[in-house]
Amino acid sequence: MLTRQYELSPGNHYAQLKIGTRELPGLSPTQILIRVGAASLNYRDLLIRKMQDDNQPHLVPLSDAAGTVVAVGSAVAQWREGDRVSPGFFADWVAGAFRLHHMASALGGGQTNGVLAEYIVADEAAIVAVPEHLSLAEAATLPCAGVTAWHALFERGNLQAGETVLVQGTGGVAILALQLAGAHGAKVIVTSSSDEKLARARQLGAWQTINYREHADWDRVALEMTNGTGVDHILELGGPDTYSRSLKAIGYGGRIAQIGVLSGFDAAPHITPMQFKNASINGICVGSVAHYARLNQFISEHKIHPLIDQSFAYEEADAGYAALAAAGHMGKLVINVD
Ligand SMILES: NC(=O)c1ccc[n+]([C@@H]2O[C@H](COP(=O)([O-])OP(=O)(O)OC[C@H]3O[C@@H](n4cnc5c(N)ncnc54)[C@H](OP(=O)(O)O)[C@@H]3O)[C@@H](O)[C@H]2O)c1
Repeated sequence: MLTRQYELSPGNHYAQLKIGTRELPGLSPTQILIRVGAASLNYRDLLIRKMQDDNQPHLVPLSDAAGTVVAVGSAVAQWREGDRVSPGFFADWVAGAFRLHHMASALGGGQTNGVLAEYIVADEAAIVAVPEHLSLAEAATLPCAGVTAWHALFERGNLQAGETVLVQGTGGVAILALQLAGAHGAKVIVTSSSDEKLARARQLGAWQTINYREHADWDRVALEMTNGTGVDHILELGGPDTYSRSLKAIGYGGRIAQIGVLSGFDAAPHITPMQFKNASINGICVGSVAHYARLNQFISEHKIHPLIDQSFAYEEADAGYAALAAAGHMGKLVINVD
């Protein structure tokens, strides 16, 4: 069977996106053929195009998709034609602890083809069912940003109702974290460069908001908001621009989830104060298929609908990337494939 898929090819400073056609191999006994309904973009997908030397030739980009099963291998019992499914971010991190070898299986990364294609093949163990109340476009927002927020707050963060959470900016991870934490009864502080986005964040349930352009010392404002005790959970998304302030804003026994590199990879935080607060830093690398399944259970229980800022047609994928780079979005950007 033929699939039309996007592929990255070498560009000057940024890999180019081209449409190609590929013959899909026959399914092995445990594999599943999925017709992709929608895919979503993450900040990581810009980095993959910038760091193009790390990519295999003709890499199919993007990690996040949801679609419909159109065929199953001879030994597959759990899934059947017509099921709505979504692949985990790592093709071989199904459950348990993260190990080095999982890294190479990240979809749409250096060595593993991603999901920006009409049809993709996945192993039966590497996919989850799409929650019934979600469209395929909504479900496609979850494998990277949603699982990362879930892993940080619930699997490692042990988030409790009534605790405070601070998220940086209003991109995919931050807004999904706001929605998940809010549904759990946590009090979420959102920072943003835009008052308009902050107003929308309050509509989505943010407890407090801070414009980080207006208040460069947002850590001081966050301390005031928490009566001087500090924030219980911070999703550290900014990197060098934000880290030192996150260390000041974190509370006693608090948890910083080390996730993002929005301002670069070279954060050099002065971490000694963490010991005087009995606070911790949890490194987060997306999450496993098991994390994804538990996220979907929570999303189903709370009937959460991920926020889609803008959708693009399959032929407009490059415009989707451009919108991501412009960072005017709030929540997620989606490419409708089907
Ligand atoms: N470790 C992991 O497993 C993992 C998983 C997913 C993502 N990530 C990382 O997490 C970060 C967020 O990813 P994403 O896909 O959610 O990004 P995104 O959707 O592209 O988010 C962009 C938004 O982040 C905010 N922002 C940018 N620079 C900022 C800064 N210096 N301080 C505070 N906010 C800033 C802006 O929000 P406003 O416009 O509101 O100001 C911007 O619109 C990225 O660095 C990504 O690589 C890591």
